[in-house]
Amino acid sequence: MKKITVKSPANIAFIKYWGQTKQNLFIPRNNNISMTLSDCQTITTIEKDPKLKEDIIELQKGDGYSPLLKDTHKGKNAYQQINRIRKLAKSKEKVRIRSKNTFLSDAGIASSASGFSALTGALLLDFDQRKIFDDKKEFSKEVRLCGSASAARSVYGGFVELKTGDSHDESYAVQIADEKSWDLVDIVAIVSSEKKKTSSSQGHAAVDSSPYYKTRLIEMQSRIKATRDAIHKKNIQKLGVATEEDTISLHIVMMTSKPPAYYWEPGTIAIMKAVVNWREKDNIQAYFSIDAGANVHVICEKKDAKKVEKRLNAIPFVKSTIYNEPCEGTHEVKDHLF
Ligand code: PMV
Repeated sequence: MKKITVKSPANIAFIKYWGQTKQNLFIPRNNNISMTLSDCQTITTIEKDPKLKEDIIELQKGDGYSPLLKDTHKGKNAYQQINRIRKLAKSKEKVRIRSKNTFLSDAGIASSASGFSALTGALLLDFDQRKIFDDKKEFSKEVRLCGSASAARSVYGGFVELKTGDSHDESYAVQIADEKSWDLVDIVAIVSSEKKKTSSSQGHAAVDSSPYYKTRLIEMQSRIKATRDAIHKKNIQKLGVATEEDTISLHIVMMTSKPPAYYWEPGTIAIMKAVVNWREKDNIQAYFSIDAGANVHVICEKKDAKKVEKRLNAIPFVKSTIYNEPCEGTHEVKDHLF
């Protein structure tokens, strides 16, 4: 049978989404903006198999692969995505899927964005939906429905905005600038590889219990404009200030939701303070960004990257770093995983 393989990057959001308008459509409550990550990618191979009675997804584990269980959160979303795309294609055929990450999957880096965009891309191509795959706007809407809306930003390369909206058709991703437009770097400093205690979906569901959530949605509007503008003008200071403010605003909501979610570890705060200190003392233009986890993304321009990476690795809490440049979005590759 014909095999298809797709590669897709994770992304880091400068303006983050937290909370959904319609839970079943996974529409983000606010516009959000990100950059693709060259060294955090998922590769997924798919093949239809008439002998199969059930779909099977296998994820890389150690030197081999093991099945993704249907009763896990990730498993439920992934198998539902197969059913959705198969129905869209009016097909009944079962599929065999294998997937692996180019980065350590136990490093505590969220792999849902790269994983779900690669999975959706592979399914669309295998079920003869190339028209949707090639139309990035439509493709991003299909990815959003897999349950991890941030994955919809990975379909384009470079700098991408995912729009909020009132209906499925209104919420899609657009490219702000491509991967060659700006030599920006994201160095991820790993301080913890533990699985996060509060999942994104639990966090999205709890947002309205934070007294600060409404304020976040209002005060972030000027940051969204500033971030688009900073990307167009390649203004690291403007981007960095907006990025740090958005991270703090997000974590205030997380920590004041009921139940609260505290993602930071001592190492997280040590890096945040170090980055601010390097700016103030040595005028190094580096800025922090933190997702729903303890690890810290440090954003700077390529000309400062070596210096920043060296300094990050000298912080005792930092176990390792991953160096990323902006890269191409979801695309087909020739080398199959099986
Ligand atoms: O896409 P989800 O549902 O896994 O949520 C992503 C949430 C953040 O990573 C914290 C923010 C973002 O926009 O990437």
